Amino acid sequence: MSQLANQIAVVTGAGRGIGKAIALRFAAEGADVVCVSRTAENSAAVADEVRALGRKSWAVALDVSDDVAVAAAGEKILAEAGRVDILVNNAGVTRDGLLMRMSEEDWDTVLDTNLRGAFVVTKSFVRAMIRQRAGRIINVASVIGLIGNAGQANYAASKAGLIGFTKSLARELASRGITANAVAPGFIETDMTSGLKDELKTALLGQIPLQRFGQAEDIAQAALFLAGPGSKYVTGQVLTVDGGMVM
Ligand SMILES: NC(=O)c1ccc[n+]([C@@H]2O[C@H](COP(=O)([O-])OP(=O)(O)OC[C@H]3O[C@@H](n4cnc5c(N)ncnc54)[C@H](O)[C@@H]3O)[C@@H](O)[C@H]2O)c1
Repeated sequence: MSQLANQIAVVTGAGRGIGKAIALRFAAEGADVVCVSRTAENSAAVADEVRALGRKSWAVALDVSDDVAVAAAGEKILAEAGRVDILVNNAGVTRDGLLMRMSEEDWDTVLDTNLRGAFVVTKSFVRAMIRQRAGRIINVASVIGLIGNAGQANYAASKAGLIGFTKSLARELASRGITANAVAPGFIETDMTSGLKDELKTALLGQIPLQRFGQAEDIAQAALFLAGPGSKYVTGQVLTVDGGMVM
């Protein structure tokens, strides 16, 4: 049986990489999917792929750090889709650099997208979930939010913040039948990591007990668990999906 039959999911950053894999995995499991991405072209292409799997889909071009646009899009999505059962806050960016050289702009861009974006997007759907007395919120954090990383103070702060945000939501919304959990990916092969130098990749590989980098589908499977019936008694957790790198 399909695990997400007739559920409606919103996935941010669904235009490529991990978000795209989550959107398509959810659709394959019976969900209709709202594909949110910065670029209209990418969200439309993934929405077409969802439809090809026989599910309904809506393509939304949106910058999650623009709270006015997010509020308007939230209302439109709820009006068109009718409800939202699952929200995946996946949109994220990096602007790496050592602290001494990190600009305020790079700090703000990362925090505004990864953390504030999740806050405003969640806010625009949570009232509907409370009314339904049901909902699943899944935030895509990172192992870097757990262990930190030289050159990623902004990114680590945003992901650690997202984990704190997730746990607070879990406590605040549990009595309303809503769960909130985070997935913390390790090194996943996507556009975000494709630019890393070969020496760094080799060094990273040496720290991964399962001896391979992750694929977007590995994260989609974890998100499916947190969205599906098997996790109904799980909330406030951080599920690390990293080949055993952080344990
Ligand atoms: N790839 C990894 O190794 C890895 C590891 C840990 C966590 N993550 C997290 O997983 C998530 C997805 O990353 P990915 O590897 O697929 O990266 P990616 O760069 O391939 O995809 C990121 C997606 O987010 C979207 N996005 C970025 N800023 C946005 C904004 N302001 N508004 C709307 N959409 C926006 C992009 O358009 C893109 O579709 C991110 O939150 C990232 O931090 C990735």
